[in-house]
Amino acid sequence: MEKIFLPRVNDLHFHGRSGQVLKDILPFTSEVCSHALFMPNIAGNEIVNARRVEEYRAEILKVCNPLFSSCEPLMTIMITPKTTPPTIEAAYNAGAVAAKIYPRGGTTNSENGIDDWDSHQLMAVLEKMEELGMVLCVHGELVYGAPEKIEVYGQYLGVLNEIEPSKREIRFCPIISKWCQLFPQLRIVFEHITTHAAVSLVFSLPKTVSATITVHHLLVTEVDVMGSHLNPHLFCKPTVKGYADMAALRAAAFSGNPKFFLGTDSAVHTKSRKEECGCAGVFSAPVFVEALIELFTEFGQLDKLPDFISNFGADFYDLPRASQTISYRREPSLVPGRIKESYVPFMAGKTLAWRRDE
Ligand code: NCD
Ligand code: ZN
Repeated sequence: MEKIFLPRVNDLHFHGRSGQVLKDILPFTSEVCSHALFMPNIAGNEIVNARRVEEYRAEILKVCNPLFSSCEPLMTIMITPKTTPPTIEAAYNAGAVAAKIYPRGGTTNSENGIDDWDSHQLMAVLEKMEELGMVLCVHGELVYGAPEKIEVYGQYLGVLNEIEPSKREIRFCPIISKWCQLFPQLRIVFEHITTHAAVSLVFSLPKTVSATITVHHLLVTEVDVMGSHLNPHLFCKPTVKGYADMAALRAAAFSGNPKFFLGTDSAVHTKSRKEECGCAGVFSAPVFVEALIELFTEFGQLDKLPDFISNFGADFYDLPRASQTISYRREPSLVPGRIKESYVPFMAGKTLAWRRDE
C-alpha cells in the first residue's frame, strides 16, 4: 500500500465562523492542522477590537482546546474605516497576529470594509502594524475605482465606478506595490491570489510580500463554475479565472519559492444559502489535503507539498514548524454529498485517490 507522511498543515486563511457552525466544521481543520488563522468577518459581529479577539479565541478554544488538540488557533482583527492605531495595538496585545483588510462590499460580510485606500487613518494603522511586527492580510480586489466615463466601441455607457469582478484583482496590484514601498518592513500577504498578474507581482516584490493560494483556485476554472450550468458551490471571491491563470497559480505552488503558501479560504455556508442566495465561499476543509496530494502527485511535485502546506507559511508568520506528521494512503474515498446535513463540501460526490489514516 502506497503511503505518505505529511507535516501538520498551517492553514493561513480559514473561516471558522461561530456558534453551531464553528462546532460543526472545526474538527475538519483541527484534525490536520498545526495552526489555523481565523478570519475576522463573523456575520453581524466582526472581530474589530481587542475584546472581540479575546471573546472569539475563547469561543474557539471551547471547541478545540490545545490541551486535547494539536491545532492552535491564530487570531486576526478586521481593519475597518474606524480602526485606529491604538485599536490595532490593543488587538495585538490581546494576541492578534494579523489584521485583515476587505474591500467594502467585495465579498461575504465585508460591509465594514475599506474603500478609501489612501486615507490618513489607514496609513497610520499600517505604520503601527509595521512597528509592531503584525502581518497584514489583504483581500486584494479593487471593487470601486474612481468614476470614469466608459465608452466602448464609441458607445457611451455612463459614468461608472464599479469594477468587473474578473478585473478586480489586477486593479488592486498597484496598491500592494505602493504599500510595500511605503512600509518596507511590513509583512503583507496578498490573500487567495487568482491571476497570473498577482503571481508575477509577488515574485517581483521583496520577501516581505507573500501570497496565499487556495486549493479550489488550483483545481477549478470558470468552466467548472459556469461552463454548463451554474454551480453555486464553487462560487467564491475572488472568482476563479481561466486555464492560464490556474496554470500560473500551479507554477507558483510548485515553484518551491517560500513566498507562496497555502491558505485554504475554506468558507462554509449552508446548502440553502449557497443555492438560494449564491453566497461566496467554498467549503474545502474536509478534503483539501487529499485533493492537494492528488494534484501534486499528478504533476510529480509531491516533494514540494510539505513546504507549501506547512513550512513556508510557518516561516513567514514566525511560527514553529510542525513537528508532527499525519499519514495518508493511496485508496479511493468518496466525498459525501453533504456534511452534517447542511453543508456541501468541495468535490462533493467525487472520488479522491488518497485518504487519511485513522
Ligand atoms: C469568504 C466568506 O464566505 O467569508 N468567502 C469567499 O468567497 N472566499 C470571504 C472571503 O474570504 O472573501
Ligand atoms: Zn477568506
